[in-house]
Amino acid sequence: METALRRIVTDIPAPESIPILERLRRYEPVAMQGQPPIVWDRASGFQVYDAWGNCWIDWSSGVLITNAGHGRQEIIDAVVKQAQSGLLTNYCFPNEIRGRLAQRIAELLPPPMEKVFLLTTGSEAVECAIKLCRTNGLRVKGRSKHVIVSYEKAFHGRTLGAQQAGGIPALKDWIVNLDPGFVQVPFPDGYWTEDTSFALFESKLAELGVNPDDVAGVMLETYQGGTAAFAPVEYMKQLRAWCDRHGALLVCDEVQAGFGRTGKMWGFEHYGIVPDLATFGKGISSSLPISAVAGRADILDLHPPGSMTSTHTGNPVCCAAALASIEIVVHENLAERAAKTGELLQQELRKIAAKHPEIGWVAGKGLVAGVACVKPGTKEPDGDLAWEVVRKCVEKGLLMFSPVGPMGSTVKIAPPLVITEEAVRESAGVLDEAFAEALAERHAEVSA
Ligand SMILES: Cc1ncc(COP(=O)(O)O)c(C=O)c1O
Repeated sequence: METALRRIVTDIPAPESIPILERLRRYEPVAMQGQPPIVWDRASGFQVYDAWGNCWIDWSSGVLITNAGHGRQEIIDAVVKQAQSGLLTNYCFPNEIRGRLAQRIAELLPPPMEKVFLLTTGSEAVECAIKLCRTNGLRVKGRSKHVIVSYEKAFHGRTLGAQQAGGIPALKDWIVNLDPGFVQVPFPDGYWTEDTSFALFESKLAELGVNPDDVAGVMLETYQGGTAAFAPVEYMKQLRAWCDRHGALLVCDEVQAGFGRTGKMWGFEHYGIVPDLATFGKGISSSLPISAVAGRADILDLHPPGSMTSTHTGNPVCCAAALASIEIVVHENLAERAAKTGELLQQELRKIAAKHPEIGWVAGKGLVAGVACVKPGTKEPDGDLAWEVVRKCVEKGLLMFSPVGPMGSTVKIAPPLVITEEAVRESAGVLDEAFAEALAERHAEVSA
């Protein structure tokens, strides 16, 4: 098949890609095999290409990385220029570009967020936020104030602290001795958790036996990555006030939501609140690995010189990529553009959802959306349907990562923010076809 934006001319996986896939299977852990078998060769704007003539409209952005678009020349030039300077790394020794990036991010953030600590991965930023919450708890009240409250179904990364703050029990089995100082409460998404009142937060903490004054920090994804659900504004305002009342830090994990993804520069702007700390990653550079923790100066300054560092803190090449990407996001008004294109995306998704009782709900804002697959008439997650839909989309030239969320039942949509309205319409048409075909095949099997 071929359109102006998509081209699939081989079987999927492409026969010539099989030796590459086999080598990866042979030498990488099984855990790396979760994605559709597309061997990326190059990517540009909102399209991804393999080496055998296939081209996809990208609804993945890798995994919400390429906010400014894939392969942007400005980012390539900045990376090349920095690399050619000969300064490829310099640990925590001062360098000019790290200072410029920290300042750029700080100036884009609302007060009182004014300091920025650069790290490498989202999980590392989350670990650091947890450390800061607990350090602050120790300072203001002592050892009892160490509880980190986070949310059911949340994902904050795969390292020890980030995973304990996550709200997906199966991912924590390996930890065995869970730290009782991490607790989760229901996320007020209005679908899985119908009660979106803030009273549920307080009653759940009471049920868990947590004294509010022992809470060091409350951490949430600004929207839940597994479903693309946002919390109600009123809930977030009450949460902000509750944290202030109890001396707990409010942490927004913006690793997915930051840098324009949700139709605003920062996801927390949708709530009219400012967190004490925020974590960033993914879309910060649209490319190389870099992340950040930002927030109040008194919190970021809790640790003395030399005691909160990381080997690759603010790597100069990654800083160059991030500065270039941020300039694109700002100067091309990509947050505004995501808000507008995202409205079209939501309209298209709602039209598809209206046709199928197997779509339980559609969530999201800006250019992130989640389509929840369920067994009709129930809220029982249907991961098989979600996978079948993703598989069909990939075969039709629409690239998505594997389903996420409750039992892998959310078809997650996150194109680069530079996607055009024409491409959104065309790709929504592909999703529509994929649902129709997957369900028709299923119904045919049942009646056979
Ligand atoms: C909200 C959120 N926080 C943290 C992380 C972890 O980031 P990383 O994979 O870069 O460690 C992710 C990754 O998916 C995420 O979505």
